[in-house]
Amino acid sequence: MCGIIACAGVKDAARVLYGGLQDLEYRGYDSAGISVLSGGKIHTVKRAGRVGAIAQAAAGLGGSCGIGHTRWATHGRPSDANAHPHVCGRFSVVHNGIIENYAELKKELACMGCTFFSQTDSEVVPQLLERYYAEYNDLKQAVLSCVSRLKGAFALAILCEGEEGFVAVKYRNPIIVGTGGGAVYAASDMPALSGLAENVAVLKDGQIAFARGGKISFCDFEGAAASLTFSPLPAAAKSVRLGGFPHYMIKEINEIPAAVKNTAAAFEGEDVARTIARAAKKRGFTSVMMCGCGTAYHSALAAAYYGEELLGMPVRVETAGEFRYRKMAVGADTLFVAVSQSGETADTVEAARAAKQAGATVAAVTNVPYSALTGVADFVVPVRAGTEICVAATKSYCGQIAALAMFFAALKGAGEYRSVLSAVKGAEALCAQTISRTVAEDVARACASSSGVYFIGRGIDYPVALEGSLKLKEVSYVPGEGYPAGELKHGTIALIDSGTLAVAVITQCGLAEKTASAVEQICARGGRAAVVCAEGCAPAHLRERAEFLIEVPACKSCLSPLVSVIPLQLIAYRTAVILGRDPDKPRNLAKSVTVE
Ligand code: M6R
Repeated sequence: MCGIIACAGVKDAARVLYGGLQDLEYRGYDSAGISVLSGGKIHTVKRAGRVGAIAQAAAGLGGSCGIGHTRWATHGRPSDANAHPHVCGRFSVVHNGIIENYAELKKELACMGCTFFSQTDSEVVPQLLERYYAEYNDLKQAVLSCVSRLKGAFALAILCEGEEGFVAVKYRNPIIVGTGGGAVYAASDMPALSGLAENVAVLKDGQIAFARGGKISFCDFEGAAASLTFSPLPAAAKSVRLGGFPHYMIKEINEIPAAVKNTAAAFEGEDVARTIARAAKKRGFTSVMMCGCGTAYHSALAAAYYGEELLGMPVRVETAGEFRYRKMAVGADTLFVAVSQSGETADTVEAARAAKQAGATVAAVTNVPYSALTGVADFVVPVRAGTEICVAATKSYCGQIAALAMFFAALKGAGEYRSVLSAVKGAEALCAQTISRTVAEDVARACASSSGVYFIGRGIDYPVALEGSLKLKEVSYVPGEGYPAGELKHGTIALIDSGTLAVAVITQCGLAEKTASAVEQICARGGRAAVVCAEGCAPAHLRERAEFLIEVPACKSCLSPLVSVIPLQLIAYRTAVILGRDPDKPRNLAKSVTVE
């Protein structure tokens, strides 16, 4: 949710910042802006729209230090005025997060004669900085005084006229600092630093970095010196490009086999399994609670079917946003599993914090090893899907299904673990087969012309139906719902007519007839039906009834969601393309939701 970047000690700050913003654009694309310090003065360009909107204006800015921002709007609509950086007097500031007490600060500052030019919460920051700088005539003191007034979540990068360099502040939203070639950098994520920084360090909550004259120093919010350990920029944190694909979504769907393979590789050897088993033994859990948002919630839901059956103990699943505000029975005998691709979704990170405070042991299932979630967790369950740029999660979902299956198997014991690990390795080829064989075009055309698309499934196919529906909605804007197949007749069937399409997921042969009768009911009411089923699962009458049939290879039940989801992802992708949508950057969305 908003990407920020800063640099100091470079030849052409505007060029560096612009390049970094392109890598951060997945975090928000409502507006973009850059401020550079050149000739002792701050020069700013900012525009509503994507990063490309500032390309021309930024090209001539130059400067040796500066800050940049790509925005996902929270307070104030996307506009030039609400675009960051926000400037006041000698300060220019970019912000990721939400200043929760902005209204009272704004009122206070307005009473003191300050004029505001935007509707954002963020603009109070440069206003406060300017006020405190006038009082103390000292940058550090101004920054400390300013942050002491802020409530909420804030990653900030600050530029101050007369001070060559930048300041970066971290509280609840990420800041990574980097050094290389005599320059200093800061950014919301590592790929934005690739090709720039050689060594990186992750700022902790409540830390401030001062970049001056090619050097960087740190302090906490009280002003006490802090030290950070730098390590080489991980090879995996590289800047990602399309490489011949028209969109990241289809590129990343094609990377699913590699995501499954690399996730399996992270579980090879005994380390991960031993950590999981040791945590389980030490605490003697009696229940598992799983949380996530969006796609991560769906992968948790799917994994819970296997986990509960295998362990014979309750495995509950809740969306992270609900968990936090619901008094759920979680304590020392609970294993809390937080699932998040980015590891920085605010609801999920806060849910994990709350569970930890309640005494639970927290496992983080994440694709980003240096994320905020890993900082909260007692141990990490690795997903190795690689950097995911498209806002719609695809390969990370498959990586999560694989990691969660191995996680539950490790809790059960060595025999189950070996069997699941070998099945995950085998799933790489099944995914590749599914990608190459699926013809999604006809179903996508039907979706594109439908007034609503209803995804149905039973058992472990139900979370897959939810995920198929989410994918279609978010990238194509075609309305619809995911439903348990048996529930359709209890209300939603009222929506079925000749304009609607139902997509049934059937991978569990024992339940095939049950879901098939839901399809019959839909067709009897004039609805159209598509079926995604495991080979050998579809009853003969269903083959006749369904207008579209996509077969996927059969596999171990706990891994079936990572295969059966692929046709649904491809259908969503093709529907978006047919309708002329940008599947990588759907309207109103951002990849990392770091606000509550
Ligand atoms: O990074 P996370 O997995 O925590 O993100 C959670 C959701 O915001 C995310 O899955 C979202 O639903 C995606 N856009 C789905 O494609």
